[in-house]
Amino acid sequence: MTPRAITIRLAEPRDAQPIALMSRDFIEAGLGWKYDAARVMRAIRDRETLAIVACDAKSSPASRGAINGFAILEFGDERAHLVLLAVRPSHRRTGIGQRMLEWMTESARIAGIASIHLELRAGNDEARKFYRAMGFYETVLVPGYYRGGEGRKEGALRMLRVLRVPGPLPAAWRPPRMPEDPKAR
Ligand SMILES: CC(C)(COP(=O)(O)OP(=O)(O)OC[C@H]1O[C@@H](n2cnc3c(N)ncnc32)[C@H](O)[C@@H]1OP(=O)(O)O)[C@@H](O)C(=O)NCCC(=O)NCCS
Repeated sequence: MTPRAITIRLAEPRDAQPIALMSRDFIEAGLGWKYDAARVMRAIRDRETLAIVACDAKSSPASRGAINGFAILEFGDERAHLVLLAVRPSHRRTGIGQRMLEWMTESARIAGIASIHLELRAGNDEARKFYRAMGFYETVLVPGYYRGGEGRKEGALRMLRVLRVPGPLPAAWRPPRMPEDPKAR
């Protein structure tokens, strides 16, 4: 599968269930299921949260391809928190994670965000390598951050990517302009 066969778009309410199932199976396995469909639906509807999906590109605009990846980013004033990001195992190492993260990073940059933060399970070496390759670095290890059933605990590794110097935006700062659509003239 080439990255070109994938479309990235904003998540819609109908995507809540498939996203929640991917979170349960590929991110939260063994920790209990916190991001169920209701919680994902709240994220999709929240104006301060960006939720996207990576789908199989279909020839007909009306048809919707299968969801093979998703990401959720919460915006604060200056910091954004990457809450969840996953790619279906069959589609990994084809650049989908990178494309979704670039989508999120560009949105954060345009919104004036100074840094993107995230946590991952301390033993998740694949994701750690992925985020390192994407310009994130490790800040702190938080023992016992994740709590599953039967008293199970697991440490979290916090990572960070700096987008600009923190503090107020310079007065001259303006959001980047979108390229003009020649058809709109
Ligand atoms: C982490 C994850 C999202 C990466 O998605 P992906 O689509 O496979 O990543 P990409 O193909 O875009 O990889 C981009 C680069 O990241 C690095 N990378 C990604 N996965 C890697 C791995 N398993 N080992 C080493 N480097 C890796 C590589 O440099 C890769 O470039 P390359 O393939 O040209 O070498 C995916 O493995 C996943 O869904 N894991 C389970 C869920 C999870 O742990 N999410 C993070 C915590 S919320």
